[in-house]
Amino acid sequence: MLTQKLKSDIISAAILAPSADNSQPWIFDWQDSTLLLRIDATRSGSISDTNYLLSDIASGSCLENIHIFLASLGIEHNIEILPNLDDPLLIAKVQLTGRSILPAEATLASMIPLRQSNRRFPFTPHAKRLTQKLLESASTPLTEAIDCSNGMQKKVACRALFKAESLRFQIKHVHEELFKTVRFNDKEGAQEGMDLRSLNIEPFARPIFKLASNWPTMAWLNKLGMSYVFGYRSTVLPTKLSPTLLLISPKENSRQGAISLGRILERCWLSATAMGLSVQVYAAPGVFTRNHATIPNEHATTLQQITESMLTLNPAGTGGLFLRIGIDKHSSNNARTRRRNLTDFINK
Ligand SMILES: Cc1cc2nc3c(=O)[nH]c(=O)nc-3n(C[C@H](O)[C@H](O)[C@H](O)COP(=O)(O)O)c2cc1C
Repeated sequence: MLTQKLKSDIISAAILAPSADNSQPWIFDWQDSTLLLRIDATRSGSISDTNYLLSDIASGSCLENIHIFLASLGIEHNIEILPNLDDPLLIAKVQLTGRSILPAEATLASMIPLRQSNRRFPFTPHAKRLTQKLLESASTPLTEAIDCSNGMQKKVACRALFKAESLRFQIKHVHEELFKTVRFNDKEGAQEGMDLRSLNIEPFARPIFKLASNWPTMAWLNKLGMSYVFGYRSTVLPTKLSPTLLLISPKENSRQGAISLGRILERCWLSATAMGLSVQVYAAPGVFTRNHATIPNEHATTLQQITESMLTLNPAGTGGLFLRIGIDKHSSNNARTRRRNLTDFINK
């Protein structure tokens, strides 16, 4: 029986999914025993999301949590993935059939409340077979997984990450978008967006980061090379000090492809959590190469270099997410992000 409590439990599991900058761009509608998952127009479509790439990935992860949660309770359901031109924000319909099936996915379901981003470093090494298992879980008919942990691949990946992350501090509207999500004063952790603890900004660096949130100051600091310092600190340094770097890409350059990427991202991340591994996602190289409109002409050469690096890693396509993975011995000190109140996600 689909009780009010079960409906709430399903949505509680769904919203624990990851989303770019903790934007939580989801809105739900119950129509009898069918759950509609939509992108929230008020929390999507920003400059990096004009083609809904980030919102589609986050919605795929949200959908996967719903699937895993229902499977763990032995509730049969059908999923229809939808976005089309008539209703571009409607992502999926999940129809609960009312039939009981053998419960499955118990391990992944138990990881949903434990999964979190970890931007700390260093990460220490883990058994190679765990990397292999994650690569296998992320290599599906709809997604491709590439190991960029070593040698030339790591060098090329670091170059793409460094250039893309530095660009986020060099372009006015991208810089504004980034800092709009940072909650400088929220000591308890913000209900949405990112606070300084979960961003893992060291206490000594927080005043500089605060100064950098002002565009004229950032533009001036960039004359001294500050965007490259931020780019190096947030990508190259943590990546060099971590054993594993994976690139997961959709096989199809379409909204369906991005939703599949989100589903596989969540499965891979929950599996890593079950293995005791910490994960940080990097989206900037994939986003910039899929959404050229974001980048002004003066940065065309850098965009070209990022695109070439991404194509070197995966000749089949430029999109995709990097996952930095390893063991954080002090992961219990890692700050968690929060979520908005459950009622806020229900279409009224
Ligand atoms: C599509 C997507 C893109 C993301 N991009 C980044 C990123 O570039 N850098 C980063 O540190 N985290 C990134 N994240 C992680 C989110 O910031 C994180 O999921 C969100 O803040 C919620 O926190 P949680 O993962 O701990 O639940 C991304 C997540 C998603 C789903």
